[in-house]
Amino acid sequence: MFSNRVLSGMRPTGGLHLGHYHGVLKNWVRLQHEFECLFFVADWHALTTHYDDPSQMEKHVWDMVIDWLAAGVDPAQATLFIQSKVPEHAELHLLLSMITPLGWLERVPTYKDQQEKLAEKDLATYGFLGYPLLQSADILIYRANRVPVGEDQVPHIEITREIARRFNHVFGKEPGFEEKAEAAIKKLGSRRAKIYRQHRASYLEKGDADALAAARALLNETQNLTMGDRERLFGYIEGGGKVILTEPQALLTEASKMPGLDGQKMSKSYNNTITLREDADSVAKKIKTMPTDPARVKRTDPGDPEKCPVWQLHLVYSDDDKKKWVQSGCRSAGIGCLECKQPVIDAIIAEQQPMRERAQRYLDDPTLVRNIVADGCEKARKMAQETLRDVREVMGLGYS
Ligand code: TRP
Ligand code: SF4
Repeated sequence: MFSNRVLSGMRPTGGLHLGHYHGVLKNWVRLQHEFECLFFVADWHALTTHYDDPSQMEKHVWDMVIDWLAAGVDPAQATLFIQSKVPEHAELHLLLSMITPLGWLERVPTYKDQQEKLAEKDLATYGFLGYPLLQSADILIYRANRVPVGEDQVPHIEITREIARRFNHVFGKEPGFEEKAEAAIKKLGSRRAKIYRQHRASYLEKGDADALAAARALLNETQNLTMGDRERLFGYIEGGGKVILTEPQALLTEASKMPGLDGQKMSKSYNNTITLREDADSVAKKIKTMPTDPARVKRTDPGDPEKCPVWQLHLVYSDDDKKKWVQSGCRSAGIGCLECKQPVIDAIIAEQQPMRERAQRYLDDPTLVRNIVADGCEKARKMAQETLRDVREVMGLGYS
């Protein structure tokens, strides 16, 4: 249960850009080699703010999945799926809503922030208030322990932890818990039982975090436990009841250093992006028309890279020698701006080349993408159903 499962979602906002690549996607690609990863399209989350225009949804979903694949997210390593195709998320959302105080949702900072930011939209809706709870359901239903997200999403992980804790507290206390936990310890076998008790005592008496980790590891290695006993023993280490839902950790994604064409953060709303699979001519044109240090009116006017957005791109794409060449060439008027931009153009086009190639396969044969996602949805559903079975059971809904 305390596996290393990573889960993250992205709202389908349409084609992605190089800011997404350098921020989120490169990180996903790295994580998929290290952990069991689940990545999904949060289409329901998109509807909470864009319910007034569903016409673009389908296109945005598939464009985004193709971008993930283009960036190197590998369906053989990671499970890719669509939130709305795993309706278990919605059932868990509903069940969690029973124990979620309204005040917790109203106090999530994104609630007021987004309402102010998107003032033209009516976000005084039930769905929007529930946004973080739906996200909690997304995470908890897979018992994911690590959730890669940007800084702005940290409060959503925090509320997820609080919901899990509250849920375990309310529903994890079965009658006769201690007796059942003690009986489960005996099933570990005498050697493991002794180690388990020692670790548990160290944790409960001295708060020894290593002992907590060691006890969990011991349980993970133990095969012959029922799900119920396993949950009891995980919970019993910490003294409480059963651990039905796992508290996740945020895995903070470093903000992308990729600047937009105007030097601001690259963002669709600033209209300063290069898309992930933009064609080479368009990339060249966009960079060539980028503003530079306004002091360089004529070719012979020296400039200052610190005042130029092209320099920000060199920081992402150029090695030290190239950076020195820019610094001295710019300040001495030894190079022209077009000359300075060329290595950046070449680097971006080279970076995108494998992405364009990978995407082409899927554009030529869309059934490939459909199949990848259908497989992913099926896998995700199996995992989700397991958790939901336990949740229904402890909430008194275990009958058939
Ligand atoms: N709210 C996230 C965002 O806007 C997207 C998201 C939905 C998500 N569900 C999630 C991220 C679960 C991580 C885990 O970026
Ligand atoms: Fe910017 Fe390069 Fe021109 Fe200097 S030479 S102003 S860094 S584009």
